[in-house]
Amino acid sequence: MAAKGKVGIIGSGLIGRGWAMLFAASGYEVCLFDILPEQVSGALDNIKMRLQDLQKAGLLRGSLTADEQFGLISGCSDFNAACQGALHVQECVPENLELKRKIFSQLDAVADDNMVLSSSTSCILPSKIFSGLKHVKQCIVAHPVNPPYYVPLVELIPHPETEQSIMDRTRALMKEIGQSPVSLKKEVDGFALNRIQYAIIAESWRLIQDGVMSPEDVDTVMSAGLGRRYAFMGPLEVMHLNAEGMKSYVERYGETMQRVLSTFGPIPDFSGPALETVDAAMTSRTPSTPEALNERRRWRDARLTGLARLQSDMDNSS
Ligand code: NAI
Repeated sequence: MAAKGKVGIIGSGLIGRGWAMLFAASGYEVCLFDILPEQVSGALDNIKMRLQDLQKAGLLRGSLTADEQFGLISGCSDFNAACQGALHVQECVPENLELKRKIFSQLDAVADDNMVLSSSTSCILPSKIFSGLKHVKQCIVAHPVNPPYYVPLVELIPHPETEQSIMDRTRALMKEIGQSPVSLKKEVDGFALNRIQYAIIAESWRLIQDGVMSPEDVDTVMSAGLGRRYAFMGPLEVMHLNAEGMKSYVERYGETMQRVLSTFGPIPDFSGPALETVDAAMTSRTPSTPEALNERRRWRDARLTGLARLQSDMDNSS
C-alpha cells in the first residue's frame, strides 16, 4: 500500500496521538517522535488498541482497516529522521514558549522549502513562536480541539509573514483528513475558539457569583439548550433562522441584546466563594481523581461519537 506522503509528529502525548490517527486514517505515513522513547511506545500501544476498538464499533475513519492504518504509523527515535522529507510537521509538545521555540529552531534547520511547519499550540501567538526563523513563511498554527478524532474543528492562524499558499495548503490538508478548518486572517490572543469559550465561561461564572443560578443549572443551559443548537449550526445562523432572516432578527432583538450586554459585569477573578461553589458542584458529580475523570471522559467521548455518527448519517441521507 503506497502512502500519500509523510507527516512528522513531534510529541506523542494526547494531541500527538490524535493527529497521528487522523493522518493515518487518510493514508499518510506518520513518523511519531518524542523526547521520551517510552512515550512513543506507549503511544503506539494506545493507538493500536483505539484503532481496533473503533473498527469493532464501526467508527473507524477512512477506508483503510485498523491494521492498515496502524501500519502507516511508526515511532522514530531521531528528531531529524522524523521530519526529513515530510510535507507537514505537526508539533505537539507541552504548552511552553521556550520549548516550542527550541523545537521550531530545530525544525528550521531540517526543513526544506516545501515543508509546512505547524504548531498545535492552544494559545501562544504565532509571532511569539516563529519570528526570526529562516522558514517563517512556511509556519502556521493548526490548533485542534480535544479530542480531535471526534471534534473536527481546526483553527489555522498565520504568522504575519506566513504565505497565503501555506494557509491554503494546510486548509486543504485538514479538509482531506476529515477535519473542519477555519482560517483566522491575522493572529489574535486566544484565537477564535477560546475567545468565544471564555466569553461563555465568564458569563456562566457571573451568574453563579451573583447568586442567580446553581452551577448545575448553568451547565444545563448549555447542554440542554444552547449546546443542542450549536452542535449543528453557529450562533449567527441561529439568529438568521430565529427571525425572518438576520436583518429581521437584529431589528427585533438588537436593542434587547445591547440592553442585556450592558449589564454584564467585570471579568471574574475565578477565585473565592464562587470557585468553592463551582468546585463543590463539579466534584460531587465527578470526583477530581484520575479514574473518575477518565470514566467521565469516556462517557463524553461516547456521546461525541454518537453525535458524529448522527451527523454523518443525516448528511448522507440528505
Ligand atoms: P501532553 O503532555 O499530553 O504531550 C506532550 C508530549 O510532548 C509528551 O509526550 C512529552 O514527552 C513530549 N515532549 C516534551 N518535550 C519534548 C521535546 N523536546 N521533543 C519532543 N517531545 C517532547 O500534551 P498535549 O495535551 O498533547 O498538548 C500538546 C500541545 O497541544 C500543547 O501545545 C497544547 O496546548 C496543545 N493542545 C492541547 C489540547 C488538549 O486538550 N490537551 C487541545 C488542543 C491543543
